[in-house]
Amino acid sequence: MAFSLCSTKTLLLFFLISAIPVAFIISSELAKPPTHVASARSPSPKITDRHRKRLFLKEVTVVKDPALAGNSSLGIVVDRPRNRLLVAISDLLGNKYNALAAYDLSTWDRLFLTKLGGPDNEKAFADDVAVDAEGNAYVTDAKSNKIWKVGADGKFVSFIRNPLFIAKEWYKNLIGLNGIVYHPDGFLIVIHTFSGMLYKIDVTKEDHEVKLIKVAGGSLAFGDGLELLSPTKLVVAGNPSGRLVESLDGWETASVVAKFKGPAHRLATAATVKDGRVYLNHLLGMGYPKKQHALVEAVFYFLRGEGNLNCWF
Ligand SMILES: *[C@@H]1O[C@H](CO)[C@@H](O)[C@H](O)[C@H]1NC(C)=O
Repeated sequence: MAFSLCSTKTLLLFFLISAIPVAFIISSELAKPPTHVASARSPSPKITDRHRKRLFLKEVTVVKDPALAGNSSLGIVVDRPRNRLLVAISDLLGNKYNALAAYDLSTWDRLFLTKLGGPDNEKAFADDVAVDAEGNAYVTDAKSNKIWKVGADGKFVSFIRNPLFIAKEWYKNLIGLNGIVYHPDGFLIVIHTFSGMLYKIDVTKEDHEVKLIKVAGGSLAFGDGLELLSPTKLVVAGNPSGRLVESLDGWETASVVAKFKGPAHRLATAATVKDGRVYLNHLLGMGYPKKQHALVEAVFYFLRGEGNLNCWF
């Protein structure tokens, strides 16, 4: 569940975005959106309560952590059983500081801040985080294609590395492991952004067995945030804004069954599921004339089946 406010993708995609004529941005912004759009004016890019943002057109800053000034908050995940919010933190430009922070959901006190390192000062970029049933957190490193495992107490446990995490073409590793979700059956689903590879990682096994999920029906390249809609359905935010992926065999194989194309000039970086509805968080094209974040409800157009079935979740 990435809530990317700033990330490597931003930098790379700025090149693409800046090529889009401003006039187009303005007209898209003023045009009536095809689906429900909830906007929230943003005073500053900090961690906020996304659900509140959806319901009211107001954004509330709940955490201001001066110790982390200069860094960006990336993926977040709510760890309900432990009443806390886990946040992946990284310094966007330097790739020198990476951490996992946990905040109490009632008091917003910081519970722990764990610095995430690597061997030989390897460049790293903490991008997204998922939490398993025991409270272990898994943070993806989009730069060096590894996963940090951090225990429920905030202590670093181990790295998960695998040759499958590395794309063959060097440039496809510029943005690697990114969105990550924990499946209630005891495994992680992780996406490699530039290659579109999707992995299943069994965390019940000591060696964290990694498998490539065979995906049919389309590519998942430029997939960013992931969110499970149900145990068999996964939303992939990115470009295109939303893709719906389904697996009927416990995520050994999967297929792209629907796509959602949101505002063209904005970049969807995260998906959230609330009450069975999918919301995509858009990062770029911060709004015109006012600086806004946009959460767009995703309506998936099914690619197969009887004609053009519009499915509202
Ligand atoms: C990120 O936070 C760490 C920890 O407080 C700090 O040492 C570092 O300077 C910060 N990074 C930037 C780019 O400000």
